[in-house]
Amino acid sequence: MSKPFYQINTESEYERACQGAIEQPEEFWESIAETFHWRKKWNQVVSWNFEEPDVKWFLNGKLNITENCIDRHLKDKADQLAIIWEPNEPSAEVRKYTYAELHREVNRFANVLVKNNIQKGDRVCIYLPMIPEAVFAMLACARVGAIHSVVFAGFSSRALADRVEDAQAKMIITSDGLLRGDKKMLLRNIVAEALEMCSSVETVLTIRYTGDVVKTNHLDKWYHDELKSVSAEFHAVETDSEDPLFILYTSGSTGKPKGVVHTCGGYMVYADYSFRNVFQYEEHDIFWCTADVGWVTGHSYITYGPLLAGATCVIFEGVPNYPDTARFWQVIEKHRVTQFYTAPTAIRALMVSGSEIPKRFKMDSLKVIGSVGEPINLEAWQWYSDYVGKGNCPVVDTWWQTETGGIMISNLGGIGKHIPTFAGKPLPGIQPVLLTSEGKEIAEKSAEGLLAIKYPWPSMIRTTYGDHERCRQTYFSAYHGYYFTGDGARRDEQGMYRIIGRVDDVINVSGHRLGTAEIENAINEHDLVIESAVVSYPHDIKGQGIYAYVICDKLPADEEKARKEIHFIVESIIGKIARPDKIQFVTGLPKTRSGKIMRRILRKIAEGSTSDFGDISTLLDPGVVESILKGKI
Ligand code: PRX
Repeated sequence: MSKPFYQINTESEYERACQGAIEQPEEFWESIAETFHWRKKWNQVVSWNFEEPDVKWFLNGKLNITENCIDRHLKDKADQLAIIWEPNEPSAEVRKYTYAELHREVNRFANVLVKNNIQKGDRVCIYLPMIPEAVFAMLACARVGAIHSVVFAGFSSRALADRVEDAQAKMIITSDGLLRGDKKMLLRNIVAEALEMCSSVETVLTIRYTGDVVKTNHLDKWYHDELKSVSAEFHAVETDSEDPLFILYTSGSTGKPKGVVHTCGGYMVYADYSFRNVFQYEEHDIFWCTADVGWVTGHSYITYGPLLAGATCVIFEGVPNYPDTARFWQVIEKHRVTQFYTAPTAIRALMVSGSEIPKRFKMDSLKVIGSVGEPINLEAWQWYSDYVGKGNCPVVDTWWQTETGGIMISNLGGIGKHIPTFAGKPLPGIQPVLLTSEGKEIAEKSAEGLLAIKYPWPSMIRTTYGDHERCRQTYFSAYHGYYFTGDGARRDEQGMYRIIGRVDDVINVSGHRLGTAEIENAINEHDLVIESAVVSYPHDIKGQGIYAYVICDKLPADEEKARKEIHFIVESIIGKIARPDKIQFVTGLPKTRSGKIMRRILRKIAEGSTSDFGDISTLLDPGVVESILKGKI
């Protein structure tokens, strides 16, 4: 191989990389991995089987990912900005950190962790607003070899406690308060509630941010106090390629959210590789991903990908519609953003206020604009391209998952053909296939089927924390020899993929992934509720809305009151993101004789169908369909 496949800038380089990756996958990944700083080189590129599963990359390689995110840039980029933090309040001060300053902040934070007894392998839960300290905290964990588990600061105390308990986290890093649009939440008080439900936490490290008075106890340390006595030097702890870097909880079709585990070496290689190529990163670019670090998008394309590439990254604390719906466009202009990466939900919400608003902004710094998290409908794609990209920017529609660690299928900005609403082709090195429901690979190019991956890639999920069998069952057991994504997809003649959506009981609300079982379990905690069934229905802004059918002991006399109570329960068990949009009280659910709920019928009713429910003769009580239709809201 002549040139390393580090950066692909033309269609022919893309083709060559794809071919190289298929013919000589190990050489392909090795040529990319060689561009990083390793303390000790690996002695084997990959070892894998999808049976157990057991996947390892860059075996016996030694590194610290933060040396690659920070230290190696200090020679040439010490004074270049690494982070530009745009606060919730437009009038508040923007905070900026060069790579040299980031180095100092992360070292100091790492020293605070060690001072508080955090060692290699310990789990640290991060429950923070979108402030620079969230990124420092992640990097500080990585620097000391601890495993971070970031929990989105919109999850309730119970959801936080479940995650802390599952990971047996020794420390929680939080702040007094959080600002999001016109709302303030006292995070440390939510942590106080969570602490009553979990036992492993030895220290709560609290960052003073909003200045509110919050509940503290004997576990507390204030971050600013701790900083007083620590040095700005810290020698990064050596980790193995396969040591866990982080755990990130995500919803599945059954049970509680599971902790997806990513490891240091492979994740590093893929986060950087995918970032550079999809966004066509060039020196001096200013990259802005609007996600929260509580989701995988924030991990890979706020913290790790951009910093590995030595980019300047905008971190935004706020929301798209605060103080008004021009905020995104203002921020793009203010910081001369070159790549902008957001979710279709945000685009759809902003479309509602009309194209006049983005038209007021030139946004001529933009080169590539991206979409992530859910299928993007044609109208939103077009609006995004016309009014944000001004018809000049390629739109990259990036398909991937918490489990994949990085973008898997996406056109590369400006390279080759783009078809609206098609994510595009796989990144070189990724081998997707479409399967029939029997698990047979579909050979025809133009086809529709279940999306699976047949060869490992460096940032793939290694295990689900504390329960390897669950990882096997969820992703590797349904279709022998493949990683199964849970998504359905269509492929055209040219090999472009269009993601159709989940084929399991996972729903995607505003780009947030939720398990229907998880929401049902929460609803069922209401005293009056006997059983519930949650399905999705198309929602103009959120992509999918949550429709809950609820059976009660007795139909509630005051339905509105019962709805409010259910909302409250769901919010306190999971968080606001899981609140049902519609709740219908019913006397029965369509069940087969074996007791299985026929969700297909419930989905159709939620979508607005009044007939064509297919064969309902297998239902225990076919009359139930009629009565649900009558009460439809
Ligand atoms: O259904 C797919 C959808 O989001 C799921 C993964 O969710 P999560 O792990 O939370 O990660 C979201 C951010 C990467 C996928 O199984 N999804 C993600 N990106 C796209 C998408 N659906 C369609 N098009 C996309 N670009």
